[in-house]
Amino acid sequence: DLMEQIRGLEVLFTVSPEKLRAVTKHFISELGKGLSKKGGNIPMIPGWVLEYPTGKERGHYLAIDLGGTNLRVVLIKLNGDRTFDSSQSKYKLPHHMRTTRDSKELFEFIADSLKSFLEEEFPKGTKEVLPLGFTFSYPASQSKINEGILQRWTKGFDIPGVEGHDVVPMLQREIAARNVPIEVVALINDTTGTLVASLYTDPAIRMGVIFGTGVNGAYYDVCSDIEKLEGKLPPDIPPTSPMAINCEYGSFDNEHLVLPRTKYDVMVDEQSPRPGQQAFEKMSSGYYLGEIVRLTLLDLHDQGFIFKDQDITKLKEPYIMDTTYPSKVEDDPFENLEDTFDLFQKDLGISTTVPERKLIRRLCELIGTRSARLSVCGIAAICQKRGYETAHIAADGSVFNKYPGFKERAAHALNDIYGWGIDDPAKHPIIIVPAEDGSGAGAAVIAALTMNRLREGK
Ligand code: BG6
Ligand code: GLC
Repeated sequence: DLMEQIRGLEVLFTVSPEKLRAVTKHFISELGKGLSKKGGNIPMIPGWVLEYPTGKERGHYLAIDLGGTNLRVVLIKLNGDRTFDSSQSKYKLPHHMRTTRDSKELFEFIADSLKSFLEEEFPKGTKEVLPLGFTFSYPASQSKINEGILQRWTKGFDIPGVEGHDVVPMLQREIAARNVPIEVVALINDTTGTLVASLYTDPAIRMGVIFGTGVNGAYYDVCSDIEKLEGKLPPDIPPTSPMAINCEYGSFDNEHLVLPRTKYDVMVDEQSPRPGQQAFEKMSSGYYLGEIVRLTLLDLHDQGFIFKDQDITKLKEPYIMDTTYPSKVEDDPFENLEDTFDLFQKDLGISTTVPERKLIRRLCELIGTRSARLSVCGIAAICQKRGYETAHIAADGSVFNKYPGFKERAAHALNDIYGWGIDDPAKHPIIIVPAEDGSGAGAAVIAALTMNRLREGK
């Protein structure tokens, strides 16, 4: 009888409304620390986007979006009326690229993809140099918009020779080597891109967030409220100017003071290429959800509760279960979870019993729900910090878009934190809405804002 095990898992992985409020409270103070001169765990990186888009920006821009699994190249036409058109190509990042020993290979891959995209879009060539916005979804310090010094890799990336360096010249060099008429004018985080792209079309947007391979958020602060900018603001920028901040809050609570970590979370951390980092992300983002499920199942097997007499060689392989596993299990429509049976049989060589599958389903629900509930603490913390009582929050990423029930669970958790007592998520004062067509458009809008500033000689 596995009921007792299920109950144990429920206790382990359930996050109560009180806990969510405690996490949010600590989050707010950590956000403040990140903005202070001394700094804290959360990097709170000024993104040098110093204006809100008006929706009137226009022109043709290129954008590349290097996320966790794909490289997207996008050509965007901003129409100047809060609408845009875009055409894009996706290039799958070869798997070994995440951990290649040669960083040049990564930038060569991006430049090659750009070159073939341009050849398709402009078979006769282009006269002008095209401005490019580079969406680079890793923590990168910026002292200006067209710079990005990688602080550290996240989401399982581990390529030597990039941390501590500016990635813009690395890319520009490979572009130049291929004689491609492109100039990298802005480097932005995917959350900042999401924020700006969505604000271009919806003025009620207050944050851009990603629930994907990683978890993170961006918002606009005011320069004078960003203590660590003191003395670093160029004289032509008024202290009242807005400033987009890429929080990098995946690193929230690296000190492990409030997050309800289980022994499986500790294992995920210890076995990662960067132990001690991205504590919040490791409990909530897509890169890790399947791994938490795997480690839990493995432990239950080792204790003799499940998969008796089964060959579990495959289950022992780290990261063999990506987020599509819990996602498919939660989507299984059958009473006896036949889809789940097939999944474990085909991919892992394990024949599961009905009670085992019920346990697996409950485990996935618990881990998926915990992810959604913890994830929204970042939103509540920013909104409380900035005093936003109502807001639209633009969200993107595979977990938000594809994980079953994520949206409903996230809305429910916000309701728990705020105690609105409103069942219908559409009536909540703070609403998470799907972002506008990826952060590529945001990169384009930011490139446009940057070019306008340059033109005005600022
Ligand atoms: C995409 C955004 O849709 O979502 C990217 O355009 C972002 O900028 C990505 O990086 C995040 O999702 P995932 O699931 O690919 O990490
Ligand atoms: C990781 C990255 C961050 C990115 C997020 C979502 O947390 O460090 O830059 O925004 O993933 O992709």
